[in-house]
Amino acid sequence: MEARLSKRAGITGVGFCVPERILTNRDLEKLVDTSDEWIRTRTGISERRVAEKGTGTSDLASVASKKALQGAGLKPEDVDLIIAATTTPDMPLPSTACFVQAKIGASRAAAFDLGAACAGFIYGLVTAEQFILSGLYKNILVIGADVISSYIDWTDRSTCVLFGDGAGAAVVKEVSSGGILSSVLGSDGNYAELLKICAGGSKYPATQETVGSKSHYLKMSGSEVFKLAVRGMSDAVLQALAKAGVSKEEIVCFIPHQANQRIIDAVSERLDFPKERVFMNLEKYGNTSSASCIIALCEALEQGKIKKKDKVVLTTFGSGLVWGAVVMEW
Ligand code: ACO
Repeated sequence: MEARLSKRAGITGVGFCVPERILTNRDLEKLVDTSDEWIRTRTGISERRVAEKGTGTSDLASVASKKALQGAGLKPEDVDLIIAATTTPDMPLPSTACFVQAKIGASRAAAFDLGAACAGFIYGLVTAEQFILSGLYKNILVIGADVISSYIDWTDRSTCVLFGDGAGAAVVKEVSSGGILSSVLGSDGNYAELLKICAGGSKYPATQETVGSKSHYLKMSGSEVFKLAVRGMSDAVLQALAKAGVSKEEIVCFIPHQANQRIIDAVSERLDFPKERVFMNLEKYGNTSSASCIIALCEALEQGKIKKKDKVVLTTFGSGLVWGAVVMEW
């Protein structure tokens, strides 16, 4: 079992926000050579939310953040730090966290962005935990948010059916009972080629050529990512459970990254988690990248799937490759 300080950090309020516009599989049939049947059987996704043009990640993140603060009984000026995990910042600079700070009026907060693709929320949560355990900050807002539709090639059927936009936020504080029991973070940059957005950064800044070659869009080798996602999330969960000294049987709710139902089924099978303890909402939202795990946590709480004292595992996986798992007691 991992040696832990007696102090613990936990989540005391959550909130999420998805755009109103729904894009169904039938709508996608009109854009690319695909079918509702293929998308549902290969991914489990029926529809996803897509932000209107001009919507920044911070717009969705601010709404989610206000809800999380309300849930935690905090005012914006109580926030010491905002960590915004996103791969789709409003702009290269300033940070999306700073835009959120201004929009919600968190006048006292320090703010920064964190990039860990789909694993961003868990990376953010574990980062926030360290600030709480060190005593530097008391009230931290952790955001997982992406408007990934801005980076989707809507003529590429291998990616456009998978993703959706959304934001989730959690207030992280010191807690007197429960909280984060253990965590595991990992990465392997040798697999960077499998899932990336090539252009728009320092290596390939925007030029007519990069735009012409569609290099600003997300590209993915789906089946390779699939296999590594199953292994990465299963191993991370097993390691996190061992660190916490918690058995699989004690886990009341398992919240995996909502990328693909077949990935979730394979991970749940490897971990022996019965279906009724596995939370899924990807049918409605698709893969919302950094927001996936926290939106799922919000809905699991709303639906009464997690009660006080319940043990919960979150796990995510994404471009990098990166992965993570957190064991929490509610
Ligand atoms: N509609 C119809 N046919 C399609 C579609 C589509 N939307 N997309 C691909 N196909 C075709 C392919 O062209 C291929 O045809 P072919 O056999 O004639 O060449 C066939 O379907 C099978 O393609 P595969 O890629 O082998 O299909 P697979 O079963 O692997 O499913 C998928 C593809 C859904 C992308 C899957 O591999 C997957 O979910 N991968 C993981 C993605 C993921 O989890 N990403 C997480 C990280 S996200 C992040 O960090 C931002």
